[in-house]
Amino acid sequence: MMARPLRALLLTTLLLALVILGSSATLRLFANGIGCDPWPSCYGLAETANQAQGSSLAKVLRLTHRTTASAFAILVIAAVAIGWRGWGGPMRLIGLSLIVVTGVLAGVGLYTPSPLPAVTIINVLGGLVLIGLSAALLSRSTALASCRPELPARFMRRAVWTLLALLALQAAVGAMISVRVAGNACAASCPQLTWSPDALALLNPMLSGRWNALSSDLTAGQSLHWLHRILGAALLLTMASIIYVRRVAAGSPWSWLLRVTIATFGLGVASAIWDGQLLVTVTHVLLAGLGAAALGVVGISVARPRSSPT
Ligand code: HEM
Repeated sequence: MMARPLRALLLTTLLLALVILGSSATLRLFANGIGCDPWPSCYGLAETANQAQGSSLAKVLRLTHRTTASAFAILVIAAVAIGWRGWGGPMRLIGLSLIVVTGVLAGVGLYTPSPLPAVTIINVLGGLVLIGLSAALLSRSTALASCRPELPARFMRRAVWTLLALLALQAAVGAMISVRVAGNACAASCPQLTWSPDALALLNPMLSGRWNALSSDLTAGQSLHWLHRILGAALLLTMASIIYVRRVAAGSPWSWLLRVTIATFGLGVASAIWDGQLLVTVTHVLLAGLGAAALGVVGISVARPRSSPT
């Protein structure tokens, strides 16, 4: 009886979660100086950050972020309350997880922006989790709910966990590029694969500081870019292999997951070629969000069936 309003509610929460991810990424990248002029010398300067923070774009984004995050929290609680009686075990677990992650992000929000990388990483990964869980709930409440895995379930569940781990790692390294203010490290060019031993310190989420404050090695910032590129290729290849080996049908959530990830990879390459373009980089992050949504749909389609209450 409540199926249609619940679906509308879940679709709204999914859209709000994408707006939350996009607005916070835009604020962070804009304050760093992505899109500033003259690029790349203006990037990372205190003056650029001050100008960005005082601009009307930043004010609109901050307001958008606050209002969408508050609306999201209210709608998620309402959706779980409405859906609870009709949901089985996995759906209830996802609904509760959504509320818990929303609460954690609200708590972390009190310390944002923070110089501690862990805070930004939690924000970015938490945003992707909200999108994935909202998409999973929505897909089960729509026609996709009847989509049972036609492939060996155990293999597919392991595949989903592997992709989840790779996506989380990939997003965390991507966020680390902006946390370390290394967005212009490849502006002059990153001609060949570079790995600096100092990059390990840059990846420590409990160590604050920009890359050039933590390392005197000029290639340390570039190493973050190379790690992100290689992990992106690994994620894409793993996904394509799973889909090829298991001959997943075209048009299934799996094939959408692959398409969105190819688009994310493509926008990543575009942001490396035409670096310093705010719109390109924000679209790259939003596509990563759509990838999390597709992974949520795929994940719930291979979840262990449990008896649902009548
Ligand atoms: C398909 C796999 C990929 C995923 C899921 C992904 C996801 C992400 C995410 C979530 C961020 C965080 C941005 C933030 O909010 O701070 C990011 C940053 C970034 N990504 Fe990717 N990415 C992928 C592949 C690539 C590739 C292949 C490239 C380049 C060849 C690339 C270039 C970048 C750059 C340059 C940034 C940092 C922007 C900045 O802080 O200035 N990405 N990525």
